Amino acid sequence: MRLAHHLAIKNGHLHINGQDCVALAEKYGTPLYVTSEDRVIEQFESYKKALGARYPKVQVLFAAKANGNLALLRALAQKGAGADVFSSGELHLALEAGMAPERLLFNGSSKTPADLRLAVEKGVKVSLDSLDELHQLDAAAQAAGKIAQVSFRVNPALEVPTHPKIATGLATSKFGIPHKEIPAAYREALACRHILPVGIHCHIGSQILDIEPFARAAEVMIRIAKELTLMGVKLEFIDLGGGLGIPYHHDTDPSPIAEDYAAKVVPIFKAGVEACGISPELWVEPGRSLVADSTVLLTRVNSTKSAHKRFANVDAGFNILVRPAMYDSYHEVIVANKADEPLITEYTVTGPICETGDILAPDRKLPQLAAGDIIAVLDAGAYGYAMSSQYNSRPRCPEVLLRGTQVALMRRGETVDDLKAAIERPAWQM
Ligand code: LLP
Repeated sequence: MRLAHHLAIKNGHLHINGQDCVALAEKYGTPLYVTSEDRVIEQFESYKKALGARYPKVQVLFAAKANGNLALLRALAQKGAGADVFSSGELHLALEAGMAPERLLFNGSSKTPADLRLAVEKGVKVSLDSLDELHQLDAAAQAAGKIAQVSFRVNPALEVPTHPKIATGLATSKFGIPHKEIPAAYREALACRHILPVGIHCHIGSQILDIEPFARAAEVMIRIAKELTLMGVKLEFIDLGGGLGIPYHHDTDPSPIAEDYAAKVVPIFKAGVEACGISPELWVEPGRSLVADSTVLLTRVNSTKSAHKRFANVDAGFNILVRPAMYDSYHEVIVANKADEPLITEYTVTGPICETGDILAPDRKLPQLAAGDIIAVLDAGAYGYAMSSQYNSRPRCPEVLLRGTQVALMRRGETVDDLKAAIERPAWQM
């Protein structure tokens, strides 16, 4: 199986950043997320380089929803990253990580009054999803005696080749303002006394392995930029969103990289803005492609069993990694302590959750397994821990961060005390 260069098989064990996954599992317990900070930074720099080589004003905003660990946000902040934040929580974490407020965009299709007040207070730009929200933000800015800088999220009505649950710019999606109604929305924004429209924003979907749809989106955005410029909107940024996929099937999926994206999209962007006579910043919001392959999820085999097929029951279920159960997502798996043994037996790798759908990896050819073996689930860094839960009252697992030869816990595992910590006892039960 093709592996990225931060992963390697040595002495029969899977290694990440030179660290033996089996030793990490022993030391920190399982389930365990292990992330290579170096790999994340490498991916971030590859976006900056590919875009920056073709257009002078570029901001790479990490989509914090993909992986909200503060340590990872801090590592990105130190390299100059901003963030697409989708909640007040993500906004607080991005600021805490040291990201500059002007490099943040507060996205979201259902922001609360408190979200809007926080964005105003922190001076963070807001991507608006409705006219209702526009007027609520105008009122919040007025109350604070401030001007809120905004974009609208454009719904470009584009079909994209991905799972329907993560196509976000379909005509039928819940997100954004239909592209035809965008000029009217900006006209309304221009009339608001405490609102300053400074950008436009879109996101067409996630896990897209074909570059063409991104080019189509850029064309829509340029058409809109032209119209808005004629209306008198001074565009300081155009945000083309995230969405570049990764090859979860290592040997067969296309593997587009930032360079491919930039080579296709930036010329359209550049020619478009030049034709409008404007020079806005080019913003992108990658999530998955920055962090997915940086991380392995290590999970221990509790037991094996032969029924109508062979099962390997492991200690990570959809409470820890929900993607396979939620989207039928494929993740490569490697038995970390038997990484060079022949793949002779077919197993379905299942989690410990009390649901039939709790399957991490169906029908995989693996070495002969035994209780205690450590299975590494690859490409678990995006929407992995971020979407984990305490279902079946299982504490969330720890996360480890690697940089060079250094190893550190970046989030401790929760305990049963954490399960109880937020619970109140109603008076009638005293
Ligand atoms: N910007 C906005 C406004 C978004 O809605 C998203 C993702 C991104 C950026 C980042 O997109 P990316 O580069 O990661 O594709 N939980 C799903 C993915 C949901 C993506 C939602 N929006 C999964 O595990 O596949």
